[in-house]
Amino acid sequence: MEARNLAPLPASIDHTVAAAVPISGLTAWQGLFDHGHLKTGQTVLVHGAAGGVGSIAVQLARELGARVIGTGRGQDRDAVLGLGADAFVDLQADQLEDAGEVDVVFDVIGGDILDRSAALVRARGTLVTIATPPKVQPRDGRAVFFVVEPDRARLADLAQRLRDGRLKPIVGAVRTLPEAPSAFAPDRRTPGKTIIRVTED
Ligand SMILES: NC(=O)c1ccc[n+]([C@@H]2O[C@H](COP(=O)([O-])OP(=O)(O)OC[C@H]3O[C@@H](n4cnc5c(N)ncnc54)[C@H](OP(=O)(O)O)[C@@H]3O)[C@@H](O)[C@H]2O)c1
Repeated sequence: MEARNLAPLPASIDHTVAAAVPISGLTAWQGLFDHGHLKTGQTVLVHGAAGGVGSIAVQLARELGARVIGTGRGQDRDAVLGLGADAFVDLQADQLEDAGEVDVVFDVIGGDILDRSAALVRARGTLVTIATPPKVQPRDGRAVFFVVEPDRARLADLAQRLRDGRLKPIVGAVRTLPEAPSAFAPDRRTPGKTIIRVTED
C-alpha cells in the first residue's frame, strides 16, 4: 500500500464506518470540485444519490452551499432528502427533464440516464460521470469521465469531516469475509455501502 493511499483514522471513528469513505469520498470530492468545479450557490444534480458515492456527494455539495437535486429509486427518496438534498427525482416515476437546468450533473449510473442528462446542463456547466466515457456532450458545456485518484490530504480532510459529524456515510450492511461473495450478489440489494469485516476486533 502506497503512503498516498493512507491517512490517520481518528480513534473515535468505528472502522466499519470509516471503510465506507475512502473511495466513495474521494470520488465524490473529485467529481464535484476537481472536475465539476461546483461553486457555492450553484445547482448540482447527483444521480444515484442514496448510493456510496452519491450519498457523500450530496453531503459535500450541501456543505458548500450548493442547491442539490438527488435522483434514484422511489424508495430512496426519504434517505436522500434526509442527507440534505433540496429535491428528489425518482428516475422510474418522474421526468428527469423536469429537474430543470443545473450547473453540474454528477452521474454514477451511465447509459440512457447519462445520455439524457447532457440536456440538463446549462451554458458553461459540466456533466461529470464515473460510469463510462460519455457519448454525449452538453450543448455549451463540458463532459468529463474520470477515475478516482489517491489523495492523502483529502482523505485526512474527509476523516476530519467524519469526526466532526459533518459527513455521515450510509453503512448498509457489515458482513464477514466468507459472506463477501453473497453480499455482492446482483439480486441482493442493501441500501448504502456494504462493508466486509476482515478481522474480528
Ligand atoms: N470512475 C471511478 O473512479 C469510480 C469510483 C467509484 C465508483 N465507480 C463506479 O460508480 C458506480 C457507482 O458507485 P457507488 O459505489 O455509488 O454504487 P452504489 O452504492 O450501488 O450506488 C449507485 C446508486 O444508484 C442507484 N441506481 C443505479 N441505477 C439506477 C437506475 N437505473 N435508476 C435509479 N437508481 C439507480 C442505485 O440503486 P440500486 O442499488 O437500487 O440499484 C444506488 O442507489 C459503480 O458502477 C462503481 O463501480 C467509479
